Amino acid sequence: MRLLSLLCLFSTVTFGAVVAPALPDAPAQKEQGLTLHLSAGRRTDTRAARLVALYVPAGQAVSPFLPAGAFAAKWEGEIASDLRAEYTFAADVRGAFKLTINGTLVLEGAGDSTAQTMNKTVQLNKGANLLVAEFESDGKEDASLQLTWWAKDFPAEPVPPAAFQHDVNDRALRDGRRVREGRTIFAQMRCAVCHAGAEVAPELAQTAPLFNEPGAKFRENFLAHWINDPRSIRPHALMPRVFSDDGQSAADLAAYLVSLGKKDDTAPAPENAPLGGALFANFGCIACHTTPDFEGEDEHGRVPLGHVKAKWQPRALREFLKDPAKDFPHTRMPNFRLTDEEAERLTSYLIENAKREFPAAPKGDATKGAALLVSAGCISCHAGAPMVGTPKLADLTWEKGCVAAEARARGKAPDFAFTPEQRDALLAFAAGGFDSLKQDAPIEFAERAIADLRCTACHARDGQQSVWSQLEGDMIVLQSGAPNSDAPEGAPVASTALPALTWLGEKLQPAWMEQFIAGHVADKPRPWIIGRMPGFASWAHGIAEGLALEHGLPVKVEPVKPDAERAKIGERLLGENGFNCLQCHALGERNATAVFEAPGPNLARTRERLREGYYTRWLLHPLRIDPETKMPRFATDDGKTPLTDVLGGDARAQVDAMWQFLQTVKR
Ligand code: HEC
Ligand code: HEC
Ligand code: HEC
Ligand code: HEC
Ligand code: HEC
Repeated sequence: MRLLSLLCLFSTVTFGAVVAPALPDAPAQKEQGLTLHLSAGRRTDTRAARLVALYVPAGQAVSPFLPAGAFAAKWEGEIASDLRAEYTFAADVRGAFKLTINGTLVLEGAGDSTAQTMNKTVQLNKGANLLVAEFESDGKEDASLQLTWWAKDFPAEPVPPAAFQHDVNDRALRDGRRVREGRTIFAQMRCAVCHAGAEVAPELAQTAPLFNEPGAKFRENFLAHWINDPRSIRPHALMPRVFSDDGQSAADLAAYLVSLGKKDDTAPAPENAPLGGALFANFGCIACHTTPDFEGEDEHGRVPLGHVKAKWQPRALREFLKDPAKDFPHTRMPNFRLTDEEAERLTSYLIENAKREFPAAPKGDATKGAALLVSAGCISCHAGAPMVGTPKLADLTWEKGCVAAEARARGKAPDFAFTPEQRDALLAFAAGGFDSLKQDAPIEFAERAIADLRCTACHARDGQQSVWSQLEGDMIVLQSGAPNSDAPEGAPVASTALPALTWLGEKLQPAWMEQFIAGHVADKPRPWIIGRMPGFASWAHGIAEGLALEHGLPVKVEPVKPDAERAKIGERLLGENGFNCLQCHALGERNATAVFEAPGPNLARTRERLREGYYTRWLLHPLRIDPETKMPRFATDDGKTPLTDVLGGDARAQVDAMWQFLQTVKR
């Protein structure tokens, strides 16, 4: 007992030596979203939230910075209304909940082991209305909350992210953001591999590429430049600058690395380049990358490719495009499941158009390079081998080494080129101790991954348009190299109109979503577009789980036992004598009857893909979810449909009957 308390005392003293830098003042700034204050076990934490919703499975922590168990959550911000109008608010809760708008109590209540719903109608002013939502859980069972609303002209829906505004410069929020940034840098830059003393949860840990026959993949002169200064080639590189000499050490390492593996620099056929250029546009490579002949500053911060000819042996580049994660599981470059022909065309396009050249590096000595691989810490990151002789975390002087502001104080440490903000973030994180590395919160994992992996390069989200949809002009130039005019009628077309990411957590069943994001679902839900969702295998599980929980829903979806009688009615409603849904939607093997009209996904996938809540509100009012959709609305504002002889013309009952039927259809 005494030993234990002594140890605790010791560890507080050492970590306490790092002081979080003062946060500068910042003027209030309104942006979309809410501020979420969390507390548990007498500790507090603040982050931004998109929704008034969450699901925390029993035994998990609501935040990486808080202990598991009982917790309280408080959302603050404004809710906007276009007009002065009446809205009904409702909450599904497992825990205790209270909603206050403009200082007036709107909802208050508690739900126990099964969720409980409460609702009340209130008037919102035109413009901003102050909102405070409070939730508490005793931590003994799963905690959940989903705030929904409806009005005369739209059916019940989760209150959408675009309705909320908050001050992003709120001090507690900035504190929470900064300590999170420090934590992410700490995990991504693998500080704990070289400075022992912290346990990092597997979902936070990230790998660096394996050195698998680098000589068969890369060119020596390029490697010398990359190793000498990675950020001069890729601005977002995670790899630090390890040497500060004239480039000799990097050249030695390059010489050593290319001695491993046999080179194959057979050039791809140049006539395939224009076809590859069209794929570069139509697959959405262009949403994450500037074209290989691009020079200058890119307003979208895309990843440059001008150096790929100087870097890659052509055959290795083709293999890389087909499976980017093969030697680097945590790569941010996704897997497009390219055919050999597609990979060949893209390789040709990249090699033919990449123009960046590099001056000759000093001549390298492979023997010296082999020794540096270990002593310079390359294999610490690249193979997870702990570095010998570096100070432990608890012994670090945080003004020196890797976090030093000036080169002089850096000494023999690698140069991560931290900005002053990143350095402050690391210090703020270190000041709080390293306990938060032991656990992650799935909701935060998903949000980090979506930002880090550039999902919004291709998908709209929360009312923000995608990068891809802003590049149609650049796409036309590339597409003109491979005219599509001889394609048969009904062949897939290039399109940047993709499902928005906004509602994924509420729309899709996590099990299907995980398989799909991983790139493991073979067939395309939308065969009418050329684009395909690329796979992000290392991240799929965490994204699918986190998005469900963020929307206040459990990860496990209970299978529905369809009601035979209602299913029969549902089947009729889908067909010609009903709403004729099958005009636009295929059903299993049965093709849509008017395919070129406005195709929708095959409805035989509904059972494994969709969650019921989303399905219902989509059918009641598709335009409310996607103002651009061609799916017609069948229900009126007061919940009736023209088919008055079926189930009394009650839209919800009819939508449910079709749901029951779709549960009987297997792929
Ligand atoms: C590849 C190994 C490696 C990685 C990864 C690494 N460091 Fe270092 N670090 C070093 C070396 C080498 C030194 C210099 C040690 C010396 O001067 O003896 C150092 C020094 C430091 C020092 C100064 C230590 C002192 O007391 O003088 C700090 C602080 C530091 N590192 C923090 C970090 C942080 C934070 C990260 C993650 C962002 C990190 N390091 C990642 C290798 C590494
Ligand atoms: C979601 C964003 C995204 C999309 C879409 C994407 N990439 Fe990438 N790609 C990246 C990132 C990020 C990297 C940097 C590697 C890393 O972080 O691991 C990369 C790396 C690469 C590289 C290696 C560059 C180097 O320095 O070695 C090539 C080549 C490449 N991508 C080509 C493509 C092609 C061709 C497509 C379309 C089929 C494509 N990418 C689509 C994000 C993307
Ligand atoms: C702090 C961790 C870290 C250290 C130390 C480090 N690297 Fe890296 N390295 C990375 C990461 C991460 C990447 C992937 C690209 C990126 O995002 O920067 C990378 C990429 C590379 C690549 C390109 C691989 C590819 O598939 O494109 C080479 C080659 C390389 N590193 C060599 C080295 C050598 C040699 C050293 C030692 C001088 C070294 N690295 C030190 C993290 C590190
Ligand atoms: C290169 C562009 C691109 C990027 C980047 C991208 N997606 Fe997609 N995504 C697509 C396309 C195209 C589809 C539609 C595929 C289809 O239905 O055939 C899609 C569909 C989806 C779907 C299925 C939605 C539905 O309703 O059927 C999910 C889930 C999804 N993407 C998640 C993500 C996530 C998460 C990320 C980031 C990790 C991401 N996407 C990044 C292109 C992209
Ligand atoms: C005029 C064509 C059209 C008709 C008629 C139509 N839909 Fe749709 N449907 C669409 C389109 C377009 C989408 C959205 C496609 C997308 O997400 O990219 C869609 C989406 C859906 C979805 C979501 C599917 C998924 O897996 O993401 C369901 C469920 C659905 N429709 C059911 C129905 C039902 C039931 C009917 C009849 C009551 C119907 N639709 C009638 C065009 C149509």
